[in-house]
Amino acid sequence: MGTAVGSWQRATLAWVLVLLAGAGALENGLARTPTMGWLHWERFLCSTDCALEPLSCVSEQLFMQMADLMVSDGWKDVGYEYVCIDDCWMSLTRDHQDRLQPDPERFPSGIRKLADYVHSKGLKLGIYGDVGNKTCAGFPGSYGYYDLDAQTFADWGVDLLKFDGCNYGTQDQLAEGYRNMSLALNKTGRSIVYSCEWPLYMRPMQKPNYTEIKHYCNHWRNFADIYDAWNSVKNTLEWTALHQDSIVDVAGPGGWNDPDMLVIGNFGLSWDQQLTQMALWAIMAAPLLMSNDLRHISPQAKWLLQNKDVIAINQDPLGKQGYRITKDNNFEVWERPLSGGAYAVAVMNRQEIGGPQIFSFSTSFLGNGLACNPACSIQQILPTSEDWGLHNWVSFLNTEVNPTGTVLLKVVVIGESPAEKPVMNINKKPSPDIL
Ligand code: GLA
Repeated sequence: MGTAVGSWQRATLAWVLVLLAGAGALENGLARTPTMGWLHWERFLCSTDCALEPLSCVSEQLFMQMADLMVSDGWKDVGYEYVCIDDCWMSLTRDHQDRLQPDPERFPSGIRKLADYVHSKGLKLGIYGDVGNKTCAGFPGSYGYYDLDAQTFADWGVDLLKFDGCNYGTQDQLAEGYRNMSLALNKTGRSIVYSCEWPLYMRPMQKPNYTEIKHYCNHWRNFADIYDAWNSVKNTLEWTALHQDSIVDVAGPGGWNDPDMLVIGNFGLSWDQQLTQMALWAIMAAPLLMSNDLRHISPQAKWLLQNKDVIAINQDPLGKQGYRITKDNNFEVWERPLSGGAYAVAVMNRQEIGGPQIFSFSTSFLGNGLACNPACSIQQILPTSEDWGLHNWVSFLNTEVNPTGTVLLKVVVIGESPAEKPVMNINKKPSPDIL
């Protein structure tokens, strides 16, 4: 009986604390739309030997160069803002006051100076830590030092923390650690985006409570690390679609599901697969954190990553995450509700054999029948920008999609009242040469 009362009291206290803290998203005013920037991990990993790899080791020079290019090559102009350091920036030991410190050889000027440099370019700096005893690559973790580390990051002028979950101890310590770091960041008074991996580490043992996670984090990784490979992108999409009932609704301004970095501009994806990653990351309202080498990137990859129409879908102010509406052996179709009653629609050809395939669909199939009711204009955004013209709620459309590629459309509803109904193009079929 004593135990029952104790647990009841604890539960009540927990609820009171939740209510006091305020319900809903982490209200630090940040990440009102998905974070955009650059993160070193997928492309540069834990390269620490600057004698051997001077141009790709994890060093202040790498981040300064990326910051320079983000401004000079137009990345900042289209919204990429955060230059983010991942694992392997630290010394193997804390300093004499127990503070984290950067590797002195690779970051001789220190993080404060690097942050100043990045800020002088009008950009923001992200850094990496870990909830447990050690980071995934074996550098010092923040367990037992949440307040001190949060304050150190704030003192340095850091604007985003990616907080990993390796070596976390017990499930309770994992959850407590993620909560405590969120509170510690808040206490510093500095605006620091909090990027978590909490559900990824939690899921093998326990179903994540996304309402709680959103209360503490600005974005959160759910699934395995992304690789520069189609299988990895495909598996990330499949995982997201299979779990959409539990993860889509929670996403919104201030808190986003994070399917991991964009690997566009690297080595492993074909052009069509890069189109698919960009289109689907926009549909998923995913943070757009590129991991590539901005010093060596093809004009084509740059065009895709800087495509303003795709970015506008990703950054849509309504902040609703998209979802898959159908999948068969050949195609899958995803849609995302946008502000103003519009929809983004992605048609992906799943086949990894053969050539381009035609997908035929009725507009009545989109947005639960509302996307084009009574009429709509359709703009193709990827692979190329094309106007598909005006349609009505029963128009029938065909589109040709390359294997593992995607056609991304924006459907804008028009003609709410009969008087406004425009003249329509029924059964317009875009000619293959525009695709
Ligand atoms: C984990 C994370 C990755 C990356 C590495 C660094 O695997 O999921 O995104 O940060 O650690 O060691």
